[in-house]
Amino acid sequence: MLSAREANRRYFRQSYRTGEHGWAEEEPSRYALGFLKRLRNLVGCGRLLDVGCGEGRHAFAAAELGFNVTAIDYEPLALKRARQAAEVRYAKGIAFRKADVFRLPFADASFDVVLDYGCLHHQRKADWPAYRASILRVLKPQGYYVLSVFSPKFRLFRRSRRAWHIAYGAYRRCFTRREILELFGDDLETVKVIEEPGKGGGFWHSLMKRRAEAA
Ligand SMILES: C[S@@+](CC[C@H](N)C(=O)[O-])C[C@H]1O[C@@H](n2cnc3c(N)ncnc32)[C@H](O)[C@@H]1O
Repeated sequence: MLSAREANRRYFRQSYRTGEHGWAEEEPSRYALGFLKRLRNLVGCGRLLDVGCGEGRHAFAAAELGFNVTAIDYEPLALKRARQAAEVRYAKGIAFRKADVFRLPFADASFDVVLDYGCLHHQRKADWPAYRASILRVLKPQGYYVLSVFSPKFRLFRRSRRAWHIAYGAYRRCFTRREILELFGDDLETVKVIEEPGKGGGFWHSLMKRRAEAA
């Protein structure tokens, strides 16, 4: 039997193969884009890591704003599409790499910003501490973290008593605001959090900043 992680991976492989997935291919989320614009003023054109970048829509948006972008995903077909799109858009300089978010192949404290749009909410709760440790390891002191995850208002969870959902092998988990705080609050302070309203909404979009180390 497939492990939960393998089942997830198979789902992503299949959804990039068929082109049938439920998230936008090209347009970045306007919430993530708003945070990136704000960050451009705060950190200048720093180094940004997009984890679970998929076909690259947020990596492109960040690069177009002037960030020095590295983007990882564990699904080769998504990366292939992202690299092809980079050629069409003349978006040079984005480093697309195959990697697992739990084993990031980068030096400690090497990014000013880490962005995750829709990767964490596919990880099991038991894996959240390992995910957090992996992100925090590569984030610079005073660095920023941009996170978008399902809230309980996302359509799959609206009428459900469970916080998780499995379909076609893919695991999805919605977060309460408190869970986000509990997971990251010791290390990151919340700069801004928005719950996306409306029928197509049901996401938390959070901008967090790494807390200064205690002296
Ligand atoms: C919902 S998609 C979002 C893609 C992209 N961030 C976007 O906004 O279009 C989630 C992505 O996370 C990737 N992913 C999931 N688990 C991962 C892991 N453990 N390591 C690397 N990538 C992962 C999937 O392959 C998929 O491309």
